[in-house]
Amino acid sequence: MKGIILAGGKGTRLYPMTEVVSKQLLPVYDKPMIYYPLSILMLADIRDVLIISTPEDIGKFAKLLGDGSDIGMNFYYKTQEEPKGIAEAFLIGEEFIGDDNVCLILGDNIFYGSTLEEKVEEAARLKEGGVVFGYPVEDPRDFGVVELDENNNVISLEEKPKEPKSNLAVPGLYFYDNSVIEIAKKIEASPRGELEITAVNNEYLKRKKLKAIQIGRGVAWLDTGTPRGLSQASEFVQIVQERQGFYIACLEEIAYRQGFIDKDQLLKLGEQLRMTNYGKYIMRIAKSEGDK
Ligand code: TTP
Repeated sequence: MKGIILAGGKGTRLYPMTEVVSKQLLPVYDKPMIYYPLSILMLADIRDVLIISTPEDIGKFAKLLGDGSDIGMNFYYKTQEEPKGIAEAFLIGEEFIGDDNVCLILGDNIFYGSTLEEKVEEAARLKEGGVVFGYPVEDPRDFGVVELDENNNVISLEEKPKEPKSNLAVPGLYFYDNSVIEIAKKIEASPRGELEITAVNNEYLKRKKLKAIQIGRGVAWLDTGTPRGLSQASEFVQIVQERQGFYIACLEEIAYRQGFIDKDQLLKLGEQLRMTNYGKYIMRIAKSEGDK
């Protein structure tokens, strides 16, 4: 399974913050936003990740994350010239995906919760078709909304419906088999000029190959698209980390726990950042855990 993080867009709702810097590079408390979706791919045991961003920003992502080898990952970079829709990721990523299945996560999606890892692992076991997630929200009218039968098969999928058929919003995390490339090539741009991810999902639905996994209320799905949402997400991360003493989306720690790197490497990475609490945390994890 390959992973793609789509981290382009204009971030207009965050202007002037995002006039000269990508939304996904802004801090969410103590780390850049892209760390959070990247941590989800790592939890799903995905090690080959393509990062897509704008021509202006892609170099900064490459500088931040490198080739990934220090955390046992492989990172690749490509540009999206204009924000022409989420589904364009599969055209830009065609060569990278090759013959594999693929998980796409939007660079501004933050998830946190104890059951999340098992949910994404379940989705990553996908053999055929597509998997979306359903997350209960108070007012689903601003989202893609999914309606399910008792076996979690998708009955309908609607983009920003005025009269939602359920309270389940579809977050920016999708798993597909390799036919997603062929589907993305076939769909047409919507009236707003974008290759819509909903069009991809509706094609899987038409083929009766779309499943949904429900994420319960024990998982937080945070919005970072507005100043208020961004600030609240930062506060959430700070509160959880200070209370529990465990970090959210510490990539080095996840790489170690997943067995991508060993303890010596973890310690080395912590030492490089020892002037920060983030680095001290990594060193604490390296020193406190038994050998893997
Ligand atoms: P949006 O929130 O739809 O767009 P945006 O991030 O540019 O923000 P705004 O509405 O404030 O202008 O995008 C959701 C995520 O998907 C975000 O991480 C950017 C990414 N994205 C792309 O990278 N390319 C695209 O073509 C689209 C539509 C989104």
